[in-house]
Amino acid sequence: MFFFKRNRPSSYTDFSKIGLDMHSHLIPGVDDGATSIIDSVALLNGLKELGFHHLITTPHTLQDIHPNTSEILQKAHALLDGKVPDGIALELSSEYYLDGQFQEQLESDKLMPMKDKRILVEFSQISRPHGLEEVVFDLGIKGYQVILAHPERYLFFHKDFGYYQRLKQMGVDLQVNALSLTKHYGEHVKKIAEKLIEADMIDYFGTDTHHLRHIETLKQVPHTKHFARLVDSGLLKNESLLP
Ligand SMILES: [Fe+2]
Repeated sequence: MFFFKRNRPSSYTDFSKIGLDMHSHLIPGVDDGATSIIDSVALLNGLKELGFHHLITTPHTLQDIHPNTSEILQKAHALLDGKVPDGIALELSSEYYLDGQFQEQLESDKLMPMKDKRILVEFSQISRPHGLEEVVFDLGIKGYQVILAHPERYLFFHKDFGYYQRLKQMGVDLQVNALSLTKHYGEHVKKIAEKLIEADMIDYFGTDTHHLRHIETLKQVPHTKHFARLVDSGLLKNESLLP
């Protein structure tokens, strides 16, 4: 049977074709991700078994719940020195919630972006952010490239698909969560993730791994049609984050 290439069933069984994960919560004790060094090492091994070789981990910096700073995160990251499994490179950045603390860290040049000043950001999943365009503009002026984490999870955008296009026009890159291709976050999130992939609007792929249950569910993802479509699109920029 002939399948149109962009809509074929997936022949992938793991994430080795992507290789670099740029969204996860693997640093012990700093957010709602890994709870201990043992937990971190189990997650690192889990991601290695799924086919990743390079992990840019992104603990939350979120003023009201996880008021982290670069210093706090670097200190916790150092707890994993000598414990990262062979065959895995672990780098540190952060997932920044757009709040007052973010503004302070931006103004005092204390942010910890990825390569080429790419910065992973998020905001409330239930209410539309105010002043987003100004923040993106300001970051652009300062040389940062904004990557919006899991655009498919912001429920208020679901009825306004055009806003995703607006974000892209503003120069914002979009990062889909792997688990959004399963029913993990619900059917609505899955549908929007698939629609963004079909519209060739996704720039980055991340697992957003917090715990071992995520690792278990991630095993389903490479088998999905939309994972294959995204990987085969050639549009993913994950590899450009390699040192
Ligand atoms: Fe995250």
